[in-house]
Amino acid sequence: MSGHHSNRDFFSSKFGVIAATAGSAIGLGNIWRFPYVAGENGGGAFLLIYLGFILIIGIPVMLSEFIIGRSAHRNVFGSFRKLAPGKPWYIIGLMGVVAAFMILSFYTAVAGWTLEYLYQSITNGFEGLTSTELQEMYYSFIGSPVRPLLWFFVFMGLTGYIIMAGVQKGIEKYSKILMPLLVVLLIILVIRSLTLPGAAGGVQFLFKPDFSKITTKTILEALGQAFFSLSIGMGTLITYGSYIQKKDRLESTAVSVAVADTLVAVLAGLAIFPAVFAFQIEPNSGEGLVYITIPNIFQQMHGGYFFSILFFVLLGVAALTSTISVLEVIVAFFVEELRIKRSAATWLATVSVSILGVMCVLSTSSMSFFRIFNFTVFDLMNFGSANIFLPLGGFFIVIFVAWFLGREQVGKELSHNSKHKSGFIPFFMFVIKFLAPVAIAFIFLQGVGLIKFS
Ligand code: TRP
Repeated sequence: MSGHHSNRDFFSSKFGVIAATAGSAIGLGNIWRFPYVAGENGGGAFLLIYLGFILIIGIPVMLSEFIIGRSAHRNVFGSFRKLAPGKPWYIIGLMGVVAAFMILSFYTAVAGWTLEYLYQSITNGFEGLTSTELQEMYYSFIGSPVRPLLWFFVFMGLTGYIIMAGVQKGIEKYSKILMPLLVVLLIILVIRSLTLPGAAGGVQFLFKPDFSKITTKTILEALGQAFFSLSIGMGTLITYGSYIQKKDRLESTAVSVAVADTLVAVLAGLAIFPAVFAFQIEPNSGEGLVYITIPNIFQQMHGGYFFSILFFVLLGVAALTSTISVLEVIVAFFVEELRIKRSAATWLATVSVSILGVMCVLSTSSMSFFRIFNFTVFDLMNFGSANIFLPLGGFFIVIFVAWFLGREQVGKELSHNSKHKSGFIPFFMFVIKFLAPVAIAFIFLQGVGLIKFS
């Protein structure tokens, strides 16, 4: 079945698939990125649009990626080459590898901040600091090069270490325990945050849509955030899909992962925004939002010292189960296309990502003057991957499955070993043939200013 790549790994069980995929999806995108992007884009209306995109675009793209990966049993580039030999579809695969470099570089930088905040929690570094002082602490930390660089390399090393070992026995196993723990901890934080004086403003901000705040850029940001948070649009889930056994059902996996991912994002919003309003932090203060708000909450909490340590450990773990999924895209590509050993591929990938990564880390300090289209390297990788590469990739992925692979292959992957209500596959085909690509194209062209409608 898998030809000369017969030594490929597989996820051991369906629960393993869900744990690994949810581990990829749930990460800094939910807890760090979602609150600040929602905060910059008006809150409630953003959330509503975001939820809509998860449903009509996110889940269909996710399923399409699984279908490609499991049909081909290859890395992202090899999958397109195998399924469409001699055709230019492999370019989507190459784009995916490029996007993996972009995401991993800035994402690992932010993951490194988590380690600094863990260190500060352990050494009681937040104790007695006011809200303003906690903001200053954040800006002075990211404003100097040495510590962020150090933590970046530690996190990159951890990611490489796990990938080198293979995924099944390491992170897959621990994700199953640690991710639920993270959710429990978030709920505790939500309760503390909601009971702060002045919390109501935050709940309103998150749940009361103010449509006057909506611009075409907001809509593009919501689409980008949906792609980013679900880990779709660049082949992470093609790669993971290639490790799913034929007996496991793809549809229920996609739905479970999307629900879990959305739940964690909303919980993060509910932990952050009440505190933002209670401590009079600006909701649009950008990338620092979580790192400023969360220590503020812990300050106001019995057992804050203990919870703070636990929180940053779990945030680090959530980030790690995501960084490995991005690194796996590059490593699987190197292993299968360059025909090199997994260990060599991991070294090659981590070292090359680190070059771009260092530029991201230094974007808030020594290299803040260096701009491309007026973006720092960090901002360019963050904004450019989510809002440009992922929607573009997602567009071509659904087009490929709908119009090239076609209904018969989709039927094989989706109805295997199960009885479908007959309406599902035609409905899914309609969504990936028309609804999802048209919606993505429209938002994308409008958002980047290539078309003007209304
Ligand atoms: N989804 C992850 C998060 O929210 C990040 C991530 C992992 C990702 N793999 C990806 C984002 C692939 C885009 C594409 O933290």
